[in-house]
This record gives sequence, structure tokens and C-alpha cells, in this order.
Amino acid sequence: VNKGHGVKGLSELGLKTLPHQYIQPPQERFDSSNEEPNKDSIPVIDMSNPNDPHVAKAICDAAQKWGFFQIVNHGVPIHVLEDVKNATHKFFALAPQEKQKYSKSQSVTNNVRFGTSFTPEAEKALEWKDYLSLFFVSNDEAASLWPPICGKQALEYMKSSESVVKKLLEILMHGLNVKEIDETKQSILMGSKRINLNYYPKCPNPELTVGVGRHSDVSTLTILLQDDIGGLYVRNTETMKWIHVPPVSGSLVINVGDALQIMSNGKYKSVEHRVSANGSNNRISVPIFVNPRPSDIIGPMAEVLQSGETPLYKHVVYSDYVKHFFRKAHDGKATVEFAK
Ligand code: SIN
Ligand code: FE2
Repeated sequence: VNKGHGVKGLSELGLKTLPHQYIQPPQERFDSSNEEPNKDSIPVIDMSNPNDPHVAKAICDAAQKWGFFQIVNHGVPIHVLEDVKNATHKFFALAPQEKQKYSKSQSVTNNVRFGTSFTPEAEKALEWKDYLSLFFVSNDEAASLWPPICGKQALEYMKSSESVVKKLLEILMHGLNVKEIDETKQSILMGSKRINLNYYPKCPNPELTVGVGRHSDVSTLTILLQDDIGGLYVRNTETMKWIHVPPVSGSLVINVGDALQIMSNGKYKSVEHRVSANGSNNRISVPIFVNPRPSDIIGPMAEVLQSGETPLYKHVVYSDYVKHFFRKAHDGKATVEFAK
């Protein structure tokens, strides 16, 4: 049915029940007994004075304890955030054949990809999500190959967030005793970027499926813009319960990815998270994945090991690590085993 029109195509057929391919095993479904009430949610950090030592401490503490935090007054103009959210809705509102031009079989480049679920070939149960993924190579390529209806806005958001990304990484590196970010470090920390436009259509049986299954990101840092619907949950690594990340107007959600966990020798945590499906609303989110360059070799940083700490991870080529992640279905924190 409706092959290639994504989950949005299915949603718009007005299905009363979820197609069986999307039914997740019970342990992967959302169950309120596994949820923690929001008494102790992830911190919201005001970045209006980014050089304040209290701000730096709050960021480093959150990266260690939660692997997640939200930032406000981050310097990315609110209109840029609104523009990219509107552009996301416009892209997914395109006719199916227009979106299909960016699918794996039709896209003129691997750097622009419209798809559905995560890795449908490898998934036993599919995820209730469509996406457009844009790998940044150059301004010229973005201008010519990213879909005209959303490319400019996505690029603007990526560019506008660069300075807060640099600041965050500088602060996190200071927390590891890395005082200077030279060119090699700059490449390993933020040498490549990908932006995804995610669309989670309203779902007939949200209790039986997921928007995104349990995973940790393979990035250095992820900068996530979410709309006001909600549905992102983060694992509390102490209680193992799931904590909702409430939408905060104008905020960006920041999370540590596997690459930074590895570089920091486990000090900063790349934490499992997942997204619920929603029975009454469509939801969008727009993550920017700040990554090493594919050819970079990542491993625990020399500065971190200086004090005689045992390295918890070996060195791996980043593109091998990413390939390993995309070869399998979402499986919680399992990807990091590749670097052990
Ligand atoms: C993801 O982590 O893959 C998506 C997060 C979100 O949509 O909030
Ligand atoms: Fe993620």
C-alpha cells in the first residue's frame, strides 16, 4: 500500500489501525510505568552570559549527569528557528512524487535523502517517522542540491547555530582540560555536519509503535529544535526510567553523542533517547548533528588520559563507526561496543 509515500502517506489514508509492520515488541512500546514524573528533568541553561563560570559548570555537569540539556538565549534568532520549522512543514506537504525525487533510488546525490523509518531493511518493526536528511558539503552544493522549499532555511539555521556550537564545545573541552582547540581538534569535534528534518505524522495506534526507537546519537553534539508537541524521552541512567524533555519555547535541546563520549573517555555521556508516536498531532523536529569528519580517527583524547586513566575505547575511523550504526536497527547503546 502506498509504497514510497512515507508514513505521512499512510497517516493521510485515514487508517483506523496501525499496519502490522509498525507494531513494536511490547518492551519497546511506551508504558507509563517506565516513565519518571518530571520532578528532576534535564536542566534549562541560560546562555546570555556564556563566559560566566556558572554557565560553564552547569553545561559540563549536565553533559556528565544527563548527557542532555536545553539552552535558551543561545543567540540563534527566533525567526530563524520559526523559518526552518515552517519550511519543514512545507517540504512534507509537497506532493509524494516531489518528495520522491529525493529518495534513495531517485536522488541525484547521497548527500540529500528523503526516507522513512530508520533502516527499514534491518528493522523487525518499523518506526513511525519520515525524514529529509541533508549532509553539508559546501554552500554551493547546498544552494544547488538541497530542496528549494526548505534548503535555504535549513542552511541558515545551520550557519546561525555555528557560534553557539563552538562555544559549547569550547566549554566542554575546558572541562576535560583541553585548553586549545587546534585545527586537528576542530576537525574531529565539528568537521562535518548533517541536518535532518523529521516528520512524525499523527498515528492511529500510538501505544503500539514508536516515532524513533531507543538509540544514542553517533555525533559529537546534537542540536535539536523541536516544536511544541512533545514526545522526546531521555533515559535517566541512574533509575533507567524515561524522562520527558518538555518543549520550551525558543530553546534548543543539546545532547552529547557517542563521538564525544569516546573522546572524553566516558566522562560526558551519550544517553539513550527515543520519541513516542502521537495519536492527535503531527510533530516535527530538526536536529543538527555536529560530527567528526568521516575520515577522522576518534578515540579518548590524550589530555583526558594524561592523569593515567585507562582508555575505555580504542581508536576507530569515524566513517566505520557511522556505518556500523546504520547497518542495524536502533538498539539502545549498543553501537559504542564497536569502539571497545
Ligand atoms: C532523534 O533523536 O532521532 C529524534 C529526536 C526528536 O525528534 O526529538
Ligand atoms: Fe537521536
